[in-house]
Amino acid sequence: MAMKSRGCQPASGRSHPFSSNWQKDIHDLVLSFLDRAGIFRQAAADFGTPLYIYEPDVMEERARAFMGAFRSHIRDFEAFFAMKCNNHPDVAATAVQAGLGLDVSSGLELQRALGAGCEHILFSGPGKTEGELELAAANAGKVTVLLDSFGELERLEKAASGAGTTVGAGIRLTTVEQGLWRKFGIPLSSLADFLAASAGKKAVRVQGIQFHTSWNMTPQAQVDFLARLGGEIGSIDSSLLATLRFLDIGGGYWPEGGEWLLEEGYEYGSALTRLRARQRVPAAAIEDFAREIARALVEHIFPHAPLRIYAEPGRWIADRTMHILLTVVDRKADDLVVTDAGTNILGWERYEKDYVPVINMSRPSLDERPCMIAGSLCTPHDIWGWSYFGEDIQPGDILLLPNQGAYTWSLRQEFIKPLAKVVKIGGDV
Ligand SMILES: Cc1ncc(COP(=O)(O)O)c(C=O)c1O
Repeated sequence: MAMKSRGCQPASGRSHPFSSNWQKDIHDLVLSFLDRAGIFRQAAADFGTPLYIYEPDVMEERARAFMGAFRSHIRDFEAFFAMKCNNHPDVAATAVQAGLGLDVSSGLELQRALGAGCEHILFSGPGKTEGELELAAANAGKVTVLLDSFGELERLEKAASGAGTTVGAGIRLTTVEQGLWRKFGIPLSSLADFLAASAGKKAVRVQGIQFHTSWNMTPQAQVDFLARLGGEIGSIDSSLLATLRFLDIGGGYWPEGGEWLLEEGYEYGSALTRLRARQRVPAAAIEDFAREIARALVEHIFPHAPLRIYAEPGRWIADRTMHILLTVVDRKADDLVVTDAGTNILGWERYEKDYVPVINMSRPSLDERPCMIAGSLCTPHDIWGWSYFGEDIQPGDILLLPNQGAYTWSLRQEFIKPLAKVVKIGGDV
């Protein structure tokens, strides 16, 4: 069905409250996907929508770029892809193929990592069950357990001695002692006691320390914690530090394009208001993270202990590896369309806060037009965006949301509508 009216007007030419650079970044991004519009339209024709389009080549390239940035500053460095960020088996397999280990946070993820043929696995996370610890003990040659508490040290000792094996382990440190983050790890002030407690264990070998800070737009939080950690380990008896082999600095590296947000307070405004009220929170380049973290290691950590460095990147590697493909089902007004998929395929109301360009692959244009792009769930909290790049938007049009590979597919939920299939493009498909 073709509708006569073309009421969604172009927004180009209006003044936007963000930098011209950002405008250019958005246009370059849109253009790079419009250049490949035929591939995406073909995938929609062959497999139907909604789809996740997975690009293994991009995954491999990001994995190598991340390792390259850190290895140019830190000689002894290993990266472990954080599976929680995207736990699709093909994604894990590509990470392993690119030379990364895997960071898992449950028995389920551990099984998937083993299934992907991974031999270097970090098992982090609070509240590991007996069954999960037994699974780790049964795969002791491949798994290092990052212990979350004194109690977990005892439970792992039991699981490992029950299995007649010895398990390598690390200690997760809390970076924020108050509030929601308090539940992770042990306070820095308990590190010496923990090392002393683990020294008496027969089946658990504590060999490392882990911390994680989230949502880092710059390396400041990691650098600050390394300074605190250096102060603490400098005061610990060197005999207790002698067993330590690695320091795991966690994940949380924000991708270099920055965070693209819709401004607070415009949630229920008109599509036009939405289009004008978006902003970018800038993020440092990964080379800056690597350089500054390396400097902090040299200053605060290596004088006390020359440790191997591990990292657990998720988002930085996975975000560009998957894109979402939808079809417009209904055009209810000039500035309101409904698509064939609901945001259950990503499991949360992401685009009520996040901005991502919605690109009409069927009517390509670099003009962005305001329009409420809604999902088809029976809830109003089901929004894909408040604008689209295209000449027009009509039922049957194929829409693409680029670079949505982080914290989407792994959070999908069985709610009202079917889940989206994953289709690979590029690589050895
Ligand atoms: C312990 C740990 N490591 C790594 C990550 C991955 O973080 P990101 O995807 O932001 O790199 C997380 C995310 O929550 C985490 O909790």
